[in-house]
Amino acid sequence: MNSPTLSEPRLRPQEQEFIDRLIVKYHGSPGMLLSLLEEIQESQPNKYLPMEVLEYLASRIDVPRAQIYSVATFYSLFNLKPQGEHTVCICRGTACHTRGSRSLLERLKLQLGFKEEDEEGSADKLSATTPDRRFTLRTVACFGQCALAPVVEVDHAILSHVNERTLEREIETLRKGSRKA
Ligand code: FES
Repeated sequence: MNSPTLSEPRLRPQEQEFIDRLIVKYHGSPGMLLSLLEEIQESQPNKYLPMEVLEYLASRIDVPRAQIYSVATFYSLFNLKPQGEHTVCICRGTACHTRGSRSLLERLKLQLGFKEEDEEGSADKLSATTPDRRFTLRTVACFGQCALAPVVEVDHAILSHVNERTLEREIETLRKGSRKA
């Protein structure tokens, strides 16, 4: 572990302790950085990795800041922006596209009230969160479940052979607050 420096970003002491404990927990284990990032992200209220957290981590482990950042940006699992309470991920791979995933996406954007300026990336690599932070909408290249196309993931649960109606109902259920376990 490196010693803290004067330029070290300030996190709340509890956050620092939490990260320090994780560093001890994963020290020397294969995939240490991924495990650290995953657990830190999970602990954040909006399920993302704030820049000051990445900087603190870099100051405490022997991994260059640039490498931490490139891992955090490479894996779609990690978020660098605050996420919504619910995440809906639509597959834009070929099998799902052929079976109507673009219409699902367009319909969902309408249902959630997204405007173009809310969206980041293209339709095939989209990430957008509603202003009230209730929903994050994303697209992926393929879930590897092409036989189930079109596939949508809602709060980590895979839904298969989705149509506009079932997706709309799913979103309404979440909107009304009946969260999945
Ligand atoms: S193309 Fe959608 S799961 Fe593969």
